[in-house]
Amino acid sequence: MSNFEIVKFEKSHAADAAEVEKASFSQPWSEQSLISQLERDDSCMFAAICCGKAVGWSGMEHSFGEGSVLNIAVLPEYRGKGIGEALTAALVQKSRELKLDWLMLEVRPSNTAAVTLYKKLGFAEIGKRPNFYSFPREDALLMRVDFV
Ligand SMILES: CC(C)(COP(=O)(O)OP(=O)(O)OC[C@H]1O[C@@H](n2cnc3c(N)ncnc32)[C@H](O)[C@@H]1OP(=O)(O)O)[C@@H](O)C(=O)NCCC(=O)NCCS
Repeated sequence: MSNFEIVKFEKSHAADAAEVEKASFSQPWSEQSLISQLERDDSCMFAAICCGKAVGWSGMEHSFGEGSVLNIAVLPEYRGKGIGEALTAALVQKSRELKLDWLMLEVRPSNTAAVTLYKKLGFAEIGKRPNFYSFPREDALLMRVDFV
């Protein structure tokens, strides 16, 4: 694998990112939903580029000083190489630049890789949302990193 770079998400990344979604989730974002999200003023999205294609993406939206992670995902064959961490760190960095009070996310408690990654980057568990996920049904763990 050659090195990867994290770039601002462009419309041209949406088809690849939709493939990342399909490979990662039971209810994936579509190419069109990614493009619609990109067009929103309150949205910040990043792509991880490797070997000429987007192999991962991350996104957040923000309002009134509060940031909320939309999703973070990496193609299975590119995991374990620091890409997910770089994509998450890009959201944290952007939150600081925007002077947000905090960045929050939901994650399945069973998703050990993601929970471990978020803790590594300073997110702390702040609560649960009962029955948040479907396919399979599961509570969400709420995690937040504070900047104030
Ligand atoms: C979660 C995900 C984005 C991590 O991406 P990744 O590129 O594999 O992660 P990285 O290689 O950057 O790893 C960074 C850190 O995450 C943690 N981590 C990653 N994979 C892990 C695993 N399988 N088990 C435990 N911790 C793990 C570790 O703390 C790791 O740091 P370390 O290498 O110093 O131990 C990736 O597994 C993924 O796309 N999963 C499917 C989609 C998903 O569940 N997204 C989260 C939705 S909330």
